[in-house]
Amino acid sequence: MDLGGRPAVPTLIDRFGRTATDLRVSLTDRCNLRCTYCMPEQGLAWLPKQTLLTDDEIVRLVDIAVRRLGVTEIRFTGGEPLLRPGLVRIVDQVARLEPRPKMSVTTNGIGLARIADSLAAAGLDRVNVSLDTLRPDRFQALARRERLDDVLDGLRAADAAGLRPVKLNTVLMRDINDDEAADLLTFALEHGYELRFIEQMPLDAQHAWRREDMVAGEEILAQLRAVYDLEPDPVDRGAAPAETWLVAGHTGLDGRPAKVGVIASVTQPFCGACDRTRLTADGQVRNCLFGQEETDLRALLRGGAEDETIADAWRAAMWGKRAGHGIDDPTFLQPARPMSAIGG
Ligand SMILES: C[S@@+](CC[C@H](N)C(=O)[O-])C[C@H]1O[C@@H](n2cnc3c(N)ncnc32)[C@H](O)[C@@H]1O
Ligand code: SF4
Repeated sequence: MDLGGRPAVPTLIDRFGRTATDLRVSLTDRCNLRCTYCMPEQGLAWLPKQTLLTDDEIVRLVDIAVRRLGVTEIRFTGGEPLLRPGLVRIVDQVARLEPRPKMSVTTNGIGLARIADSLAAAGLDRVNVSLDTLRPDRFQALARRERLDDVLDGLRAADAAGLRPVKLNTVLMRDINDDEAADLLTFALEHGYELRFIEQMPLDAQHAWRREDMVAGEEILAQLRAVYDLEPDPVDRGAAPAETWLVAGHTGLDGRPAKVGVIASVTQPFCGACDRTRLTADGQVRNCLFGQEETDLRALLRGGAEDETIADAWRAAMWGKRAGHGIDDPTFLQPARPMSAIGG
């Protein structure tokens, strides 16, 4: 078979020497919030139901990824993954795969209070919960819904269910919550959650992102340092997107030094170490959040393709991964799909 210069190895390698082992699976493009950096007030034209992968199709693709492609970590995301009725069943099935991958969910936390115990019992390891503010009025301004209490309840339930470490994801927006970095860290330290700030990226459906408005990682660190002593984390970062810091004088629930992270995707891209591959809710493989290309695995699945044919289409998709996201390149084009549809 002609592999177009691609070495005949089973794993998801690319031309730049990277190997993808971390799979982000979007379970739905729908959401019950309308975060301004993500979606317009009226929502989006959701994917037609018949194009969405079924629960069984998702489990089959994850199985191919784990068994044939060397994927070791699965993150369920969206849209809002807790809106997917089959989530617990999917987690349960994936937990039975050999070799068993590590499994986490990125969620806005709404409904987590109800489902955290079932997710833990089904085999979920961890959750990442998005929390941008601790103030109800700001939550309403940012997410356009009054649901802060639901998110806080969800956090407590996840922690009590043992979905640890509970990680918090925060996006700071200029003139909305850009003064809250230290307060959020105080909250995280008090509860034993691990906080990570994410620079706002040009992935909103409205294409309203402006670099000048973005709160950059350096600014966030300066805010934190005004209140806390941060020391460089001696642990090698590997492919992790967050640069982490130890918060002097504070320990986490595991008794180790407490950490805070900054994901500076825009000002300090980490594309050279990227180990991610992505599957959209309608069965398209993407090799990058910012890429333009997609490979249709749903058509292969529904056309009766063998596992190895699907695996090889996935490998070919990853071989074409570009060196970097190129946000600073004058020719940069925001991807046609917003983050909520790709899976953040
Ligand atoms: C797209 S959401 C999907 C999962 C879930 N609904 C949630 O909010 O956690 C995944 C993560 O992407 C982040 N996000 C969304 N739009 C973003 C943007 N334009 N720039 C940076 N992060 C963004 C969210 O804050 C969230 O932490
Ligand atoms: S960031 Fe998450 S919670 Fe907010 S609108 Fe997007 S998908 Fe929904």
